[in-house]
Amino acid sequence: MNYEEAMKKMSAIGQEHVLKYYDELSDEQKKGLLTQIAETDFSVLKKIEKGAGSERGKFSPLAAMQRSEIEAREKELHDAGVKAIKEGKTAALLLAGGMGTRLGSDNPKGMFDIGLTKHVYIFERIITNLLDVVHETDTWIRLFIMTSEKNHDATVAFLKEKNFFGYREDRIVFFKQDMAPACDYNGKLYMEAKDRISTSPNGNAGWYSSMVRAGLDRILTDEGIEWIDIFAVDNVLQRICDPCFVGATVLAGVSVGAKVVRKAAPDEKVGVMCLEDGRPSIVEYYELSDDMMNAKDDKGEPAYNYGVILNYLFHVSELSAVADDKMPLHVVKKKIPYIDENAQLVKPTEPNGYKFEQLVLDMIHQLTTCLPYEVIREREFAPIKNPTGIDSVESARELLKKNNIEL
Ligand code: UTP
Repeated sequence: MNYEEAMKKMSAIGQEHVLKYYDELSDEQKKGLLTQIAETDFSVLKKIEKGAGSERGKFSPLAAMQRSEIEAREKELHDAGVKAIKEGKTAALLLAGGMGTRLGSDNPKGMFDIGLTKHVYIFERIITNLLDVVHETDTWIRLFIMTSEKNHDATVAFLKEKNFFGYREDRIVFFKQDMAPACDYNGKLYMEAKDRISTSPNGNAGWYSSMVRAGLDRILTDEGIEWIDIFAVDNVLQRICDPCFVGATVLAGVSVGAKVVRKAAPDEKVGVMCLEDGRPSIVEYYELSDDMMNAKDDKGEPAYNYGVILNYLFHVSELSAVADDKMPLHVVKKKIPYIDENAQLVKPTEPNGYKFEQLVLDMIHQLTTCLPYEVIREREFAPIKNPTGIDSVESARELLKKNNIEL
């Protein structure tokens, strides 16, 4: 794309300011900016006018496999899971492409040190948890790590320096997720440098399309991987590819298994597993009507009672049905670094604009069947979103201590 074409594309959407500094740029910078303009999908900006919400269907309850059943069938589930893992049918995929803006560290979230008397990095906690299963099953589970162009180099360098915390390097594959442009509240694109439009990772559902674009679906086929456990970087307690969860999902023969925790209170602010027009879905806490909040199942327990924790085991063969263009795009208020009118970089401390994200929970709704699988909150759910308060470094440390993990 040349300058004239780029100007035409940008002025057609009222964003010609992105070329304001063009004449000042070096040849290489000019090329970089023109490439970015050519390759970026700016149609996402239209989403602001339309609003983020998409029409929801009719909700109904979806029963979870509860702890009582899991404990009663433990050996059967465990054996089935160990078998699938030993046969190499199970992979793990770490979602580490996010910017972790709430935590406020400039480094990738996984590099955050939550230790008190020694170093305990978030990545270390996650890998240590996965290593438990590797050792138990004597199988080096294939580990995919999704980064973004913003944090890829730092993530890879850090993990290399730490020797991958004991994981076998040849069993890890990194890939970068796609990016989306970011804008102010009026839809005007931010620039993060004179030669670069501000971008952010395109949401945690970007993992599948980005993986395919990177050609990594070939590894899935070549290695006969049938299941992928995708999980967030920030839950430092979660078990990954744990045999009972794998076994329960495989035996249920569903499209996806979802780890869920029992809600702490009927109005707790978590997305709850349910059916929407007969397909698995997640209803957000603010979408729960009073009737839904009070509804009971046949045991007299709340019918919408299990919150998701962003740990899902997807059946690979169902993933090709998950099309990007069918997934809703969420408009999210975030802190977006930008250059001001004097071309000085500003790192805002409060949200200052919109990013555009596709979310894993919308992938679930494109699949046909789901098994919500109950895990014990105090043992498996310690998310680190904020420095202090709810879902924070502080709350995660308390939970780690309760689980006898030295910090
Ligand atoms: P969050 O939405 O909590 O993480 O994503 P975030 O965007 O990094 O954090 P904030 O909101 O800016 O503070 C949950 C998980 O999804 C991953 C994150 O890395 C985390 O593991 N994620 C999120 C991606 O991999 N890519 C994305 O585009 C967004």
